[in-house]
Amino acid sequence: MSAQPDSIRTPEALDVAAVRREFPLLQTTVHGKPLVYLDSAASAQKPQVVIDAERDVYERYYSNIHRGVHQLSVLATDAYERARARVQHFLGAREAREILFVRGATEAINLVAQTYGRRNVGAGDEVLITGLEHHSNIVPWQMLCEEKGATLKVAPIDDAGVVDMAAFEGLLGPRTRIVSVSHVSNALGTINPVERMTERAHAAGAVIVIDGAQAAPHLAIDVERIGCDFYAFSGHKVYGPSGVGALYGRAALLEAMPPWQGGGDMISSVTFEKSTWAELPHKFEAGTPNVAGTIALAVAIEWLEGLGLEAVAAHEDELLAYGTELLSAIPGLRLVGTAPDKAGVLSFVLDGVHPHDIGTILDYEGVAIRTGHHCAQPVMDRYGIPATARASLACFNTREDLDALARGIGKVQEMFK
Ligand code: ALA
Repeated sequence: MSAQPDSIRTPEALDVAAVRREFPLLQTTVHGKPLVYLDSAASAQKPQVVIDAERDVYERYYSNIHRGVHQLSVLATDAYERARARVQHFLGAREAREILFVRGATEAINLVAQTYGRRNVGAGDEVLITGLEHHSNIVPWQMLCEEKGATLKVAPIDDAGVVDMAAFEGLLGPRTRIVSVSHVSNALGTINPVERMTERAHAAGAVIVIDGAQAAPHLAIDVERIGCDFYAFSGHKVYGPSGVGALYGRAALLEAMPPWQGGGDMISSVTFEKSTWAELPHKFEAGTPNVAGTIALAVAIEWLEGLGLEAVAAHEDELLAYGTELLSAIPGLRLVGTAPDKAGVLSFVLDGVHPHDIGTILDYEGVAIRTGHHCAQPVMDRYGIPATARASLACFNTREDLDALARGIGKVQEMFK
């Protein structure tokens, strides 16, 4: 582990040294160097409490849920439904039945496209997204529009990576049925003005879906305050397991939507002639879910909330400001995405060096970043580049991590001189 001062405290008193000690992987080395993990936007590492929670389910009370009268099934079902209540609280939703467990944000958006979308979007209708979106918030809408003869509209971004709100508003019209936007861009870190976007979408008579995969680890979320219709996030980015996430949907909309996948647990009754659907949220949860992963997701959220969401955000904002200054001072380095409102992401390119080379050389220094198009090829196209190198921040990162990144970039430049 890199030499960290014993206690690194932000003004909000997030004890980062203590937080770091909770992550087994942060105590390891890579290529003989202490691991500096700056790839949490791809997936965050897990604190011991989350690893233990999943194991605890399997060791003490694992069973299928909603199906058995036996003791283990009752215990597992209770824990699973408590996880739903935890997510409800985390998102500020009014009712637990408005929370659907899915595999992650990608599945959540596909669910909305394939149920609400297929029912409510027709030929000549429009779906509006932004130029900042991850492929998971582009492709499901393209598939829907293609099937229905609808049109996908895209609100452009400016050079800083900020959505042009005048263009966004201009693209909303009487045929707009769905607006779907990221809360925070995974590629650039831009925070979108989701309350204003929601207000405008509703004024145009459209529903709004928010992809919160990149926001959930960094910002306190309140779907009631935002006023959105759907909100999606992934467990693996909030220090929870991969393969589990949640979709919030307003109850009235979920009630009116057809189910997505058919199978066990989502039905009220089945005959060969006709089946009827279970009540919310079960109507959208066909098949045996990731029981232990969902319970561990709730533990991850509880852990994150225990740190204090404001303290986490303040710490990451401070690191973002520090990292921005540090990287901006490196000759030949250009930050990509310089929105005034940003969270947790430092995307950059270096003169004369392909991002993959940056990533490979940094890896040999123990520094893990992501390089590539970040599943956001249209963002790269907007800047006329194939890829960026992206360092992304989490609650456990420190200024020393960013110093290691800057030193590593210095080595890259040495090698390519
Ligand atoms: N969406 C993830 C990322 O930004 C995988 O890297």
